[in-house]
Amino acid sequence: MRVTMIGTGYVGLVSGVCFSEFGFDVTCVDIDEAKIATLNELKSPIYEPGLDELIERNHTAGRLTFTTDFENAVAEADVVFVAVGTPSRRGDGEADLSYVFEAAKRIAHAMRPETVIVIKSTVVVGTCRKVHDIIAAERPGVAFSIASNPEFLREGSAIEDFMRPDRVIVGVEDERGEKALRHLYRPLYLRETPILITTLENAEITKYAANAFLAMKITFINEIADLCEKVGGDVQQIATGIGLDKRIGSKFLHAGPGYGGSCFPKDTNAFAATGRKSGAPQLLVETTIAVNEARKRAMADRILEALGPNPAGKTVGVLGIAFKPNTDDVRDAPSLVIVPRLVGAGVKVRAHDPEAREQAAPLLPGMEWCEQPYDVAKDADVIAVLTEWNVYRGLDLKRIGEAMAGKTIVDLRNIYRPQDVEDAGLGYVSVGKKGMF
Ligand code: UDX
Repeated sequence: MRVTMIGTGYVGLVSGVCFSEFGFDVTCVDIDEAKIATLNELKSPIYEPGLDELIERNHTAGRLTFTTDFENAVAEADVVFVAVGTPSRRGDGEADLSYVFEAAKRIAHAMRPETVIVIKSTVVVGTCRKVHDIIAAERPGVAFSIASNPEFLREGSAIEDFMRPDRVIVGVEDERGEKALRHLYRPLYLRETPILITTLENAEITKYAANAFLAMKITFINEIADLCEKVGGDVQQIATGIGLDKRIGSKFLHAGPGYGGSCFPKDTNAFAATGRKSGAPQLLVETTIAVNEARKRAMADRILEALGPNPAGKTVGVLGIAFKPNTDDVRDAPSLVIVPRLVGAGVKVRAHDPEAREQAAPLLPGMEWCEQPYDVAKDADVIAVLTEWNVYRGLDLKRIGEAMAGKTIVDLRNIYRPQDVEDAGLGYVSVGKKGMF
């Protein structure tokens, strides 16, 4: 079975590469020539652990190719995946589907009869039907199938998530689509991965509902953290306590500076917009969005408070800029709200991130970059941990303290044991623990 993947962004590239690792012949297509050139040099344009090795192995084995030749790649394929971007439209927060529809038109003209077209991009409910209608109008009388196959990949563990998913969601409208997708996910058979075959609409909504629920879960524990700080409590113990209830589950209950990334903010906004438009407002999701936005600002204010009454002219050393560890992605990262708010208050910011510098530098002007984590401590009045990279967990806190001008760590990810920070002679401000700030 020949697979063509349209779009070599995060989702398209990881999915295409992983299908080739499963033994299928895969062609990855992008309009960005520079990106395809990079891939043809067997380098990944994105940072994702393990991806380079898989690209090299499968390309060398002849199963994985990269091209800008859209038409040929589609003409050769049995299954064409659409994994182009669906960014938030400015203003209304709805997903911009123009890239999906554009790709659909081009596929219609290039495809062979009986091609299965699978929408992997995150699209609002009803989009797959629209894609069907576009293709049917462009190529009347030609048989084809539409399927929906949303992704649930986390950046930083995307390959593992693809190879060992909790489940695979497949929306189909006919037997041909179902058969093709079942075949492509057959390699997961041994792991007994549930493959849920459903309608196009159900698959589309499942993706948004899953991300909205996870965003809500994080936001819930963030509000519990606020309560703990007021009334006396430890959010980590409470998360453990509620997480042991199997109906709740322990994952996604880490309090922090608010969720960010390429999916949660965009998808919750699009889902809320769908709710409003369809007369079924998603009030929990609307509130989640508002609470999360306010949280990022509140976390900046927490750092400013730690600087004392006159923060202007003082220095904050920031550890971590990426929206989470193991990625260079800074899209909608809390740091993009927190750092400008500090800079706006006249604070000097020195920052380190193991991977995100290139992506973040243009977005965060007026901030000094440090080569090493310890460098941010130099003359800093406060150290703020924004991302829980592993390299920050084991830092020598005494050494940090000695380099600092002030003596406070604001740990927005709760990566340190309060006792360890105190033993190093530092003040500790964390999240969701009374008496620690
Ligand atoms: C997410 C979904 O997990 C994935 O299924 C979907 O396909 C894409 O969006 P990703 O954006 O890569 O994946 O990151 P994820 O690990 O889910 O984290 C999202 C954000 O939530 C990060 O900013 C992270 O720091 C934050 N988060 C996560 C918390 O603040 N607390 C948690 O307990 C978990």
